[in-house]
Amino acid sequence: MACPKQHLRLPDEKRQICGTGQSQEVPVSRGQDRLDGQLQGIDIRLHREDTGRHGRGVPVDLGQGEAAGPGQGEPVDPGQGEAAGPGQGEAASPGQGEAGRFCPADYRLDPAVFAAKPQCRCDTLYVAGGLYGNRWAVDSLLRLIEGDPAKNARLAVNGDAHWFDTDPETFKAIEEKLSGAFLLAGNVEAELRRRGEVGAGCGCAYPAEVEPGIVDRSNRIHRKLKATYQGLPTLHPRFDERPFALLAQVGGVSVAVVHGDERMLAGWGCSHEALGQAVRQHELQEWMAAHNIGVLATSHTCAPAALGMSGVGEPPQASSTRPEEAEREASEKAEEEASKEAKEEASLPRQLSGEVPSRPFDVTEAIINNGAAGMPNFGLPGQGLVTRVSLTKHPQALYRAQLATTPPVFVEAVPLEYDQESFLAWFDKQWPRLSPASVSYRTRIADGTGKSPHEAIIKGFSLLV
Ligand SMILES: [Fe+2]
Repeated sequence: MACPKQHLRLPDEKRQICGTGQSQEVPVSRGQDRLDGQLQGIDIRLHREDTGRHGRGVPVDLGQGEAAGPGQGEPVDPGQGEAAGPGQGEAASPGQGEAGRFCPADYRLDPAVFAAKPQCRCDTLYVAGGLYGNRWAVDSLLRLIEGDPAKNARLAVNGDAHWFDTDPETFKAIEEKLSGAFLLAGNVEAELRRRGEVGAGCGCAYPAEVEPGIVDRSNRIHRKLKATYQGLPTLHPRFDERPFALLAQVGGVSVAVVHGDERMLAGWGCSHEALGQAVRQHELQEWMAAHNIGVLATSHTCAPAALGMSGVGEPPQASSTRPEEAEREASEKAEEEASKEAKEEASLPRQLSGEVPSRPFDVTEAIINNGAAGMPNFGLPGQGLVTRVSLTKHPQALYRAQLATTPPVFVEAVPLEYDQESFLAWFDKQWPRLSPASVSYRTRIADGTGKSPHEAIIKGFSLLV
């Protein structure tokens, strides 16, 4: 189970954050003074100010002596004010931030999307964020959906469909293959289609803890990708149309699909580390209850996470103890809960298929981050991960939550096996040794992450493998 104090150092070559990065607009709540975490092998320690407004966006002090934030000087409050446009036009004054380190102001999501009627109603919805230009993963995804036990499954691609595909043929092929999907913009697409210059670089909004080399390589990858994009003007109208969010309905459940979090395109509020925080959990429960949303499906952080909860309870009490003690207490409580859940899992009878039945209790809210569809998330190379929300179960799901609805709706993480040999050969051709993408990503692509599916589960999901 996730532990917010977990610090796992990977070899230097693995110490990278996906090129889609994290927002400096980390949703932080009152009383949450520090978040320690780890993403893709990088220790993260975010210090932040408390504006005294519960659940609102807070300017984040990332330890560089200056407040980070979109607009550079006027922090965006994602929970207030009018939403900006979909990132197609001019945004904040350019050149005032470090490329790849901040969220442009127009990354704010329009909250009206979540109050509108669903744009998609179906019995099965796949959500695939972070295909990263891996066309073999795209092919596998389409085959997976075509072969789904539930017919007429729909697909939402929630951003960062492109990244490594700097050759125009692959870029175009991916667009063509995904033409039948609901296509959302990620920060990669938002910065590809941006006209003018705001200095956001890749749009990853890396926190200060991420070493500069990673950020620099990410910006260089995006510059090269943008040159490809600019050579394909016939595709531009398609990109301009791409929204930041989708509201779907599966059975009786509203499903919000975003790229980062519920407030910012490159928000980091749905990272594994953030979702492990009690205050953040309560904040999401409140937001989901207010919008009558049962499932929040996201991506962006490049590391999978799954959280199931049951109703809005009392808000976490402000602690009078020191932050270190509060952290220790929270960690011990999380470990205690994890141990309790593991015992409950072990006591469940196994079916002949080897599948562990759904937990004896249902959840009312599920937040699921598929990590990367086009790169490994766990120990196995050649295996991406996608989210599936459905009235039926998928036999290959790695973990699952069941929503307490009639009929029940299942939220699952399904592995996406792709042609690793072809992908790696193509990757090496596109990005030779010492190129920015090779330095940042090749080890992960070739060897996997070394993690296992159970590490993605925070609580409320059943491990099926
Ligand atoms: Fe992203």
